[in-house]
Amino acid sequence: MKSILYLVLLLTPLWAAAELGAPLQQPNIEVTDTASVRRGLELYVDRCLGCHSLKHLRYRRLQRDLRLSDEEIKALFPHLERIVGTMTTAMDPEDAARWFGVAAPDLSERIRALGADWLYTYLRSFYKDETRPFGVNNWLFPDVAMPHVLWDLQGEQEAVTAQLGDTVVIQKLELVERGKLSPQEYDKALTDLVNFLAYAAEPAQLERRRIGPYVLLFLFLLALVTYRLKKAYWKDVH
Ligand code: HEC
Repeated sequence: MKSILYLVLLLTPLWAAAELGAPLQQPNIEVTDTASVRRGLELYVDRCLGCHSLKHLRYRRLQRDLRLSDEEIKALFPHLERIVGTMTTAMDPEDAARWFGVAAPDLSERIRALGADWLYTYLRSFYKDETRPFGVNNWLFPDVAMPHVLWDLQGEQEAVTAQLGDTVVIQKLELVERGKLSPQEYDKALTDLVNFLAYAAEPAQLERRRIGPYVLLFLFLLALVTYRLKKAYWKDVH
């Protein structure tokens, strides 16, 4: 019985490695790094907003949190007549369904569900696959209906595969043609983008972090006062 258990334990990682696909990579993000979040916002507007909305992110909130002037907001979103409402996309969901087979989901909640590591890995996992409609596939999200919208920055990757029993599994992706950015610069641009999306998934977190230390200080002072009060009251009882 015990040896069977050992065998199962021994084989599990092998099986998992073959089944799960791309190993998750961790970006080094910090949502309080406003400069990075701003750079991520610019890349998002340039490359993602055409298809994906962020319906929980209000322009006014974005402006306040990232300390953007009215002019900066207008430059980023030229179609805005007044700075009101949330970040919607110009694309009609029906058109999207016709072009891609599925509508591009609103990313407000999806990002929270998927997590920063998933997103970062996803955007590094596109590779050449001529059998797919856009000529690319994704190691983390097989047969994805989204084109590799950052390919000119990253360049082209190819999958290095191995035969495992009857199935062909991907072992790693290799850059076969460099893009405009070096791999390090690409990872940095992605980190900014993921940082922006981590912020956009829950804009209130910046405010929470800002007031957090004050709340703790208040609780500490309250505890001190309560303790002194208790001592004063009990002095006569003893
Ligand atoms: C040309 C339109 C288009 C653009 C531009 C685009 N996407 Fe997508 N995206 C899609 C479609 C369509 C899907 C749905 C794919 C599917 O379900 O197979 C998708 C799916 C996703 C998903 C997975 C969501 C989920 O629910 O699993 C993420 C994350 C994502 N996109 C992020 C981005 C980011 C970040 C950018 C900008 C760098 C971007 N997309 C640009 C069309 C687009």
